[in-house]
Amino acid sequence: MENSNSEIKKVIAKKAFEYLTSKLHKDSILGIGTGSTTNFFIEELIDKNPTLKAIVSSSKASTQLLENAGLEVSELNDVGGPDFYVDGADEINERLEMIKGGGGALTREKIIASASKNFICICDASKQVRNLGKFPLAIEVIPMARSYVARQIVIMGGTPEYRVGFLSDNGNQIIDVRNLKMKVPYEIEEKINNIPGVVANGIFSSRRADLLIVDKNGEPTILK
Ligand code: 5RP
Repeated sequence: MENSNSEIKKVIAKKAFEYLTSKLHKDSILGIGTGSTTNFFIEELIDKNPTLKAIVSSSKASTQLLENAGLEVSELNDVGGPDFYVDGADEINERLEMIKGGGGALTREKIIASASKNFICICDASKQVRNLGKFPLAIEVIPMARSYVARQIVIMGGTPEYRVGFLSDNGNQIIDVRNLKMKVPYEIEEKINNIPGVVANGIFSSRRADLLIVDKNGEPTILK
């Protein structure tokens, strides 16, 4: 099961690279996400090594993979917005709104996604949902605000759980929330963002994907 899932992720990552091949050039800035699907894209990038202006990364883990292979990773502050951002998702709906952050990299992912001209989501079909919200929603919080944010989430109808022993790349903690109703994801995203102490939440609605590469009947397919 895990193996065939990995095979699908690999095929999708290859398709994403193929899609980008004609679009990337020496002045392109490429944003790289985080997670197992993105790791296959990183493998492609390392293998094909196209000439680019810069690569930016959404996590220490992705940066390490890229740098270990000799690729230079730039700071977003130094290079400006990427032309393309490639990343996975934990859930994605028909509007290409997503839940992300299963790996805890949501804040940097959201920053780079928002700064990018194009967001290409790569995932296997198991991530496609009618309504977002079954996958626990990650919220990155300033540590001293964790209990306060959790109580506000309970008032909203959610069931928060502290991700014990995990610190984000920004040194913050994560609360995973179940049972939140997400009929209008944008409203929930905004409401959670307004709780003092919240750094970011894993609803990607105000910055959804522009393109989805996903498997359909065993074939990688591009959806807009
Ligand atoms: C990490 C993320 C990932 O994109 C998401 O968890 C999907 O990961 P995978 O490709 O391993 O299924 O948001 O914070």
